[in-house]
Amino acid sequence: MSQSVSAAASGQFKIGGDITVNRLGFGAMRITGKGIWGDPEDPAAARAVLARLPELDVNFIDTADSYGPYTSEDLIREVLHPYKGMVIATKGGLTRHGPDRWAPLGRPEYLRQCVVTSLRRLGVDHIDLWQLHRIDPKVPREETFAEIAAMQKEGLIRHVGLSEVNVEEIEAARRHFKVVTVQNLYNLGNRQSEAVLEHCEKHDIGFIPWFPLAAGQLAQPGSVLDEIAKSHNVSTGAIALAWLLKRSRVMLPIPGTGKVDHLEANVAGASVKLTDAEFAELDKAGRVTA
Ligand SMILES: NC(=O)c1ccc[n+]([C@@H]2O[C@H](COP(=O)([O-])OP(=O)(O)OC[C@H]3O[C@@H](n4cnc5c(N)ncnc54)[C@H](OP(=O)(O)O)[C@@H]3O)[C@@H](O)[C@H]2O)c1
Repeated sequence: MSQSVSAAASGQFKIGGDITVNRLGFGAMRITGKGIWGDPEDPAAARAVLARLPELDVNFIDTADSYGPYTSEDLIREVLHPYKGMVIATKGGLTRHGPDRWAPLGRPEYLRQCVVTSLRRLGVDHIDLWQLHRIDPKVPREETFAEIAAMQKEGLIRHVGLSEVNVEEIEAARRHFKVVTVQNLYNLGNRQSEAVLEHCEKHDIGFIPWFPLAAGQLAQPGSVLDEIAKSHNVSTGAIALAWLLKRSRVMLPIPGTGKVDHLEANVAGASVKLTDAEFAELDKAGRVTA
């Protein structure tokens, strides 16, 4: 892989106005077992992926206590601690009862457990970006938000993000703390969060699209995506990422993989400069399937 593959080419974003990261990050959910449960099938490959990140200038890593659970945070610490120049963003607020089973739990004492145990696992004295994985409909959200605000005041959390929220929920949370990122499902072929993205742009909130590579049938041989990928000599995934990066200056994609060659193919997307015509063509194709 050529030396020129660098996440720095994706441009930079200041999280919370004070922590600068390269916009193309890494999602550390795929370095766990099947169903995001337990150890990865190929632990050496997972470790190699993490070790390759700084070499590719990827300095924004998304994880969660529930990935494994704990496996992802443990591996990140083992391979990357003390994280020189890297931001490790984690999440809490979901319990795990088995492979592919997730349940929101927003009670204040549980969220505090999430934060203090993530601190221990990651080996840090504060978390640069802690994200509420889900708002728990069983708990009054004001109680959840108040506890997060308290943990921020105590210095356990530097910045707070939310995940899978709508505009009204972002505004409700902003009455308790500054919301610096929002992490919602979004990709070329799934645009259900356009209104949230526009809200984030307006308020300088980083928008972290999860499942960023999914282009579904858009990536079929002979498709617009496939043709544009061929003309840039990169993968369809790299073009899907380049489209996201051009879509908004607050976009922080976090593609995930357990394989070094896939990581390199994805980071190549940081250097792709789509023309306005290519962007519009992809946009149109994406909106048809959205
Ligand atoms: N907030 C939330 O609720 C939420 C939900 C889901 C995910 N997330 C976060 O978002 C991140 C990304 O989401 P995601 O993992 O669902 O979606 P994704 O990054 O769009 O796709 C990952 C999938 O694509 C494969 N892949 C990656 N690069 C590839 C390549 N170059 N060629 C072929 N296949 C490739 C991976 O398998 P291989 O391992 O085989 O490469 C994996 O199956 C996660 O890591 C996690 O941090 C957040």
